[in-house]
Amino acid sequence: MSNFFLKTGQIIYRIKRPLLFQFDSERVHNWLTAIGERIGRSKILRSTLQAMWRVESPILEQTFHGIKFSNPIGLSAGFDYEARLTQVLPAIGFGFGTVGTITNNAYEGNPYPRLGRLVKSRSLLVNKGFKNEGIRVIIKKLTGAKFAIPVGISIGKTNGQKEMTQAEAVADVVTTFQIAETNRTAVSFSYYELNISCPNLYGDVEFYSPEHLQDLLTVVTALNLSKPLFIKMPINKSDDETRAMLSIIADHPVAGVIFSNLQTNRNDPSLNQTEVKRYEQGFFSGKPVEKRSNELIALAYKEFGSKLTIIGCGGVFSAEDAYKKVKLGASLIEMITGMVYVGPQLPAQINLGLIKLLKQGGFNNVAQAVGIETKSS
Ligand SMILES: Cc1cc2nc3c(=O)[nH]c(=O)nc-3n(C[C@H](O)[C@H](O)[C@H](O)COP(=O)(O)O)c2cc1C
Repeated sequence: MSNFFLKTGQIIYRIKRPLLFQFDSERVHNWLTAIGERIGRSKILRSTLQAMWRVESPILEQTFHGIKFSNPIGLSAGFDYEARLTQVLPAIGFGFGTVGTITNNAYEGNPYPRLGRLVKSRSLLVNKGFKNEGIRVIIKKLTGAKFAIPVGISIGKTNGQKEMTQAEAVADVVTTFQIAETNRTAVSFSYYELNISCPNLYGDVEFYSPEHLQDLLTVVTALNLSKPLFIKMPINKSDDETRAMLSIIADHPVAGVIFSNLQTNRNDPSLNQTEVKRYEQGFFSGKPVEKRSNELIALAYKEFGSKLTIIGCGGVFSAEDAYKKVKLGASLIEMITGMVYVGPQLPAQINLGLIKLLKQGGFNNVAQAVGIETKSS
């Protein structure tokens, strides 16, 4: 029955999409967030949507680091940076969701345009630069809320035109974690993400070089975090640079890594150059992330899979795309852009499709398929 409702949802979205795409992307995002928040607040609307769309199956269930995931499809950081969607996510089929990226101090966002559509490239231009209300406001909003799925908080360094030294940036990130930790019982979030790979920030601070990454992880480790920590990884590093980062990460109490953040290569062959030239600032999500993200998932699984749980992210528009990442080594999947192009029913549709693909592959559970392609290569 959910298949019928999901197909109907997809058709309705396909009809509405040209109209939605007439309007400024950020405005549409704000409208859809307001609708999602409204549905999330209403038990009746939530239950109706859930009954029509949500797909449940033991095949999709996994437990990692003490967290139970009813399915492997999550909302990636960047969509719900005001913590307004945590209640609607399970109703539309998500198995988990990340709020943020959140920083110590609030930031109004980089100058416009900071969000755009590259329809031919099946991508979004992103130049928000951690637009967010700051950790204190987010903690206040989430205090006392009950979550039906695991909810994580993505943390990054405060952005803005005021330059920070490397040491100040580390202290800033630590303060954000400390505030979250102080409120760990009042806010029932399940995991942290540490975003070290946003390409849209001011200044020269970076956590890619071994020395800087080591410094950051040493102080974060000293915090003795109460929740598992996942690190959001860049896409634009070579295999060797990625390996160097992963070996430092694997030496710390880090639960896993997320591959990956935005595509930073404006000349990536998957990008339509006429679309790219419309924007001077910012970087690209969606299909232009997919190929390299898949390569990095395979690399990480092969060399660090026994130590790190891998979350695959980038260009997931279908169950087949998600299944590919699972077979390469991802235990969980995150996404944003696919939903913008295919519709809000996509997470549930992917879950339905994944069940079919896993059964066809002879698997009783998604965990059995993780890394199957990388292991045999
Ligand atoms: C509008 C938008 C805002 C984003 N902001 C963040 C962010 O704040 N933190 C982060 O870790 N990633 C951010 N990202 C990157 C996504 O989390 C994800 O890594 C990337 O878009 C690839 O996934 P996708 O192809 O499914 O969108 C953002 C992406 C988009 C589209």
